Amino acid sequence: MCGIVGYTGPQSAITPLVEGLRRLEYRGYDSAGIALGTPGSLFIEKRAGKLGNLEGALPANLPVVHSGIGHTRWATHGGPTDRNAHPHVDNEGKLAVIHNGIIENYSELKIELEKRGHKFTSDTDTESVAHLLSDLRKENKGDLTAAMREAVKKLRGSFTLLAIHADAPETIVGVRRNSPLVVGIGDGENFMASDVAAFIDYTKRAIELGQDEVVTITPGGIEITDLSGKKVAPREYEITWDSAAAQKGGFSHFMLKEIFEQPKAVADTLIGRLSDNNQIQLDEIHMSDKEIKAIKKIVVIACGTAYHAGMVAKYAIEKWAKISVEVEIASEYRYRDPIIDAGTLVIAISQSGETMDTLMAIRHAKAAGARVLAICNTNSSTIPRESDAVLYTHAGPEIAVASTKAFLTQVVAVYLIGLKLAQVRGELKDSEIHNLYNEMLELPAKIEQILETVEPLRELTRGFAQSASVLFLGRNVGYPVALEGALKLKELAYMHAEGFAGGELKHGPIALIDQGTPVIAILPAGHDHALDEKMLSNIQEVKARGARVIVIAQEGDKVVGAEHIIRIPVASALLQPVLATVPLQVFAYEMAVTRGNDVDQPRNLAKSVTVE
Ligand code: AGP
Repeated sequence: MCGIVGYTGPQSAITPLVEGLRRLEYRGYDSAGIALGTPGSLFIEKRAGKLGNLEGALPANLPVVHSGIGHTRWATHGGPTDRNAHPHVDNEGKLAVIHNGIIENYSELKIELEKRGHKFTSDTDTESVAHLLSDLRKENKGDLTAAMREAVKKLRGSFTLLAIHADAPETIVGVRRNSPLVVGIGDGENFMASDVAAFIDYTKRAIELGQDEVVTITPGGIEITDLSGKKVAPREYEITWDSAAAQKGGFSHFMLKEIFEQPKAVADTLIGRLSDNNQIQLDEIHMSDKEIKAIKKIVVIACGTAYHAGMVAKYAIEKWAKISVEVEIASEYRYRDPIIDAGTLVIAISQSGETMDTLMAIRHAKAAGARVLAICNTNSSTIPRESDAVLYTHAGPEIAVASTKAFLTQVVAVYLIGLKLAQVRGELKDSEIHNLYNEMLELPAKIEQILETVEPLRELTRGFAQSASVLFLGRNVGYPVALEGALKLKELAYMHAEGFAGGELKHGPIALIDQGTPVIAILPAGHDHALDEKMLSNIQEVKARGARVIVIAQEGDKVVGAEHIIRIPVASALLQPVLATVPLQVFAYEMAVTRGNDVDQPRNLAKSVTVE
């Protein structure tokens, strides 16, 4: 997510702006910029890279002004370059905008605005807002607040926006839709930011803004209205966090914060992916229908958690698109002389986009003639750059080493690809695509529902803290979920954990079951699932040998033999991994906390493994 700061008051604005952006660095970013409210014209400076690049570019004789906006950008539309950095300005250079989120209809707006003579200078979705606001401000007799209200009615997507105009530089206008925006109430000065970490050193008095609320701040005033212009009473509160806690949004660890960000991450990854006539929109994969129909085989290449997302891809793509899918551990792939030809589509999944094992594997595949499509969470990183196309997930920066929200969005991304391939190849009708996409749109709310049970689950976990090992059982798409649950426990709790396909139990692993061995079984989705009975038998088999069984089961599923049942909302079988994984993330998180481990930076691990 991007970092946003606004200031207006008696201080020299550059200080609270830059210090505020520094407090937001933890969110991850790849460029930074500011707009200072110099009367008559704005002072704009922005640079790719870290905040130091921006500071280094500021002139020694910087004008002392008392208002401005600042931004750290996590690139989504358009790479991390100077010209794509925020703020973005209108053609007169007098109105500046910064943005966090996704403007879904920016390209339609851009076409309309170019027709009206606006000249664009960046590849971003945000720039459309700068030109739109400029026109609307003129139509509203210079009233930037009214212009913002009108602009929001024309925008689709999730966003937080701040704007400033040189004709009234001490006035800053903000709005939020699905992305956070808070106001800091100072004494003769006021702030706005993505989160309170940016201004907590100046004030502990804050106002949380509601959906589609427009806020206007000046040194002495704060006014909030809805989109009709009706005043909204400010909901003021006292910030009780210290600065470190504020960076984690009040959560004790980034990992827990990122677990709770999963509904929004999944929602953002799904935004705008189905057209009004039920066509899956994945233009960025840069494949014509003819090329899609010519695919003979898909090879998914990844490591760790991303590999587990690739395993889910196999079930979904083979079921929906009827294309054979192989899933490969990247570090093994190129050393076994794989069969590759022009009919092979390689899908490389990587959160960081820098994993050397995956990078070396796709280089090998490209050299052998395969087309490579990356699924990545980090804009313009190496793997997308070396691929033929990239589908970016919109999980936002993932700070914790243990991958959570990135995994769920990787799974959602492979679902989208599976639906796209199935639609083009005529394997699924438009009505089926419509139904599946709309069921996916329900996933964020279902994840929220699971997150409401976090505390009882954390308490349950503490009862297993002294276990020597934990086994995970899953069948069909529950098998990669079992593997992911085991990996989370290994990397966070430093304990032995292993995931098995339920049917494999009797071929050896059942010998591991001892009195009190914890076994977590993921019951397949769908009450009439053919594998339900088989998994219920597995539960009986391990229970008969002394296991303590925790079952992840859908609401309404019949379960026997479980010591604990963790209920998750109903979803169709192939979509269940997005839901069943969440309790396992929480289980591993709590086990790590109980064992006193460094949750966000587990021992021996790096967030991005850039060596083979
Ligand atoms: C997952 O929790 C781990 N941090 C690790 O397995 C990770 O998924 C793997 O290293 C791949 O990283 P990538 O997605 O950045 O390529």
